[in-house]
Amino acid sequence: MNQDVILTGMRPTGALHIGHYVGVIKNMVALQKTHPCFFFLADWHALSALYDKTDIVRASRYEYVKGWVAAGVDPKVSPIFKQSDIVETLKLNQFFQCLTPPGWADRSPSWKDFMNNPNADRKLDNLGFFTYPILQAADIAIVGGKLVPVGADQVSHIEIAREIVRKFNRVYKAKLPEPEAYLSEVPKLPGIDGGLKMSSSIGNTISMNETEKSLQKKVNKIKTDDTRGDMANPGNPDNCTVCEYHKVFSPKETCDRVFAACRSASIGCGECKLVLGESMKKELLPIADKFNQITDTMCDEILADGALRARAVTKKVWAEVEAVTKF
Ligand code: TRP
Ligand code: SF4
Repeated sequence: MNQDVILTGMRPTGALHIGHYVGVIKNMVALQKTHPCFFFLADWHALSALYDKTDIVRASRYEYVKGWVAAGVDPKVSPIFKQSDIVETLKLNQFFQCLTPPGWADRSPSWKDFMNNPNADRKLDNLGFFTYPILQAADIAIVGGKLVPVGADQVSHIEIAREIVRKFNRVYKAKLPEPEAYLSEVPKLPGIDGGLKMSSSIGNTISMNETEKSLQKKVNKIKTDDTRGDMANPGNPDNCTVCEYHKVFSPKETCDRVFAACRSASIGCGECKLVLGESMKKELLPIADKFNQITDTMCDEILADGALRARAVTKKVWAEVEAVTKF
């Protein structure tokens, strides 16, 4: 077991879907076996987009805990907690705010995207969103976090966090671990419409607790190689969203067999989707089952226990901060 502490957070901003499962949650389950991990709900961060829709944040917190635990995250091994239970984060955030020139936040890619995109949600025009990377730095440092699993699009945020922690260490002769992005190969699942990203706001998702029937129904809607026409013509799996799903959910032999059959026009798209449906049901129905067995009360208990265990660490780090800053 590597001793570098891993922290992963997700903003509870809406329904979970299998894009999260494939891209983030499966990775959390794997990391738990190799590193000490903390998993948290970035609900303060969610507020910068949803300050007027706190009901969504509240409902999504439950949904996320259910999804994580159903997929195999073990809260007895890695604390699962909510950001807003860790008061030390805000205390450290205040130091970090004072160490951060506005230019660093101004250069963050998500702020720049927002500023340059006239169609972006105008609600994000707030200082909570502007200072997002600084609070994120505090999230990481307050648990002594070193490795942060993120997608390529989030790497610059972790670099800002590292700059802030370095400055803190320089100014106060402190020794907080310098955070690093921890990149791992995670498959990206396109939307069922063939769009690059699965997203609730687009409505092209499959959720983590579909029934057997609703799952197959959604699989039947996944976009195929639309140049194929009908079964008499060979298809091209490289130009087919169903194929990308097969690669994620079906064993390699099944993929090889189905794709060859597609190219030789010996399987139709309907049958191909039935095969995919079977692979997906095998992996996802047991998860859906567990998901539906976890009650909101159980989530509250998991979060309360997680907060206790996380705070045992964050209080220690804060004590160090007080010692070095003589505050
Ligand atoms: N930025 C992450 C997201 O968009 C959430 C997050 C907030 C986070 N603070 C973090 C992730 C600290 C890892 C570490 O979902
Ligand atoms: Fe796509 Fe399968 Fe149809 Fe081929 S047979 S085009 S891989 S859905």
